[in-house]
Amino acid sequence: MFDFGRDPLAHFQEFLKEAESKGLPEPTGMSLATATPEGRPSVRTVLFKGFYQSGITFYTNFEGRKGRELISNPFAAINFWWPALDKQVRFEGNIEKLPRDVSEAYFATRPRLSQLGAWSSNQSAEIPDLDFLQSKLKETEKKFENKTIPCPPHWGGFVLVPHEVEFWIGRQGRLHERYVYQKQAQGWRTFLRSP
Ligand SMILES: Cc1cc2nc3c(=O)[nH]c(=O)nc-3n(C[C@H](O)[C@H](O)[C@H](O)COP(=O)(O)O)c2cc1C
Repeated sequence: MFDFGRDPLAHFQEFLKEAESKGLPEPTGMSLATATPEGRPSVRTVLFKGFYQSGITFYTNFEGRKGRELISNPFAAINFWWPALDKQVRFEGNIEKLPRDVSEAYFATRPRLSQLGAWSSNQSAEIPDLDFLQSKLKETEKKFENKTIPCPPHWGGFVLVPHEVEFWIGRQGRLHERYVYQKQAQGWRTFLRSP
């Protein structure tokens, strides 16, 4: 039973837990929409990496397309869809960079190959061929041989601080349920939307 008396992030956690408990592939995968300051949108999948304060976090390259868009126009939208649950959760909000120490602590937990990848890939840039990437990886391996790999300055986390969260639950006859939380000065305004 959906309860507007509960915090939206508590509901989101419950949906995610259900997706994880069903063994669904990549239950933390989410579509992240960004836009240029002129309003030209782009979207791609990233992985949810937990909460920071009351926001949704993810990690990426600050200099790739999404990184540049998020820095120059700090608003984004996120969508989770779990087909096996017939559920969707949408977030819209402001974007902030995570504190550097939080990004560095997370980077330190990543597999070494992913750490090397973060140094080797100039995300979103055109490359001549796949060998180019492999040679970059080799160079990086050599540079950090027998060393701890630090978090690259161009890599880290963002947090989306939501001003709207919408829960969608599929129902028969397309009479789906939509539960909306909108941030107001005094707290969340909650209401239903027509499917
Ligand atoms: C399941 C899945 C998870 C992904 N997770 C991430 C992620 O957490 N961070 C990231 O930067 N890219 C991730 N990617 C790659 C992005 O979708 C995208 O290709 C990349 O970030 C470059 O996007 P951009 O050029 O718009 O910046 C993931 C892709 C898939 C399919």
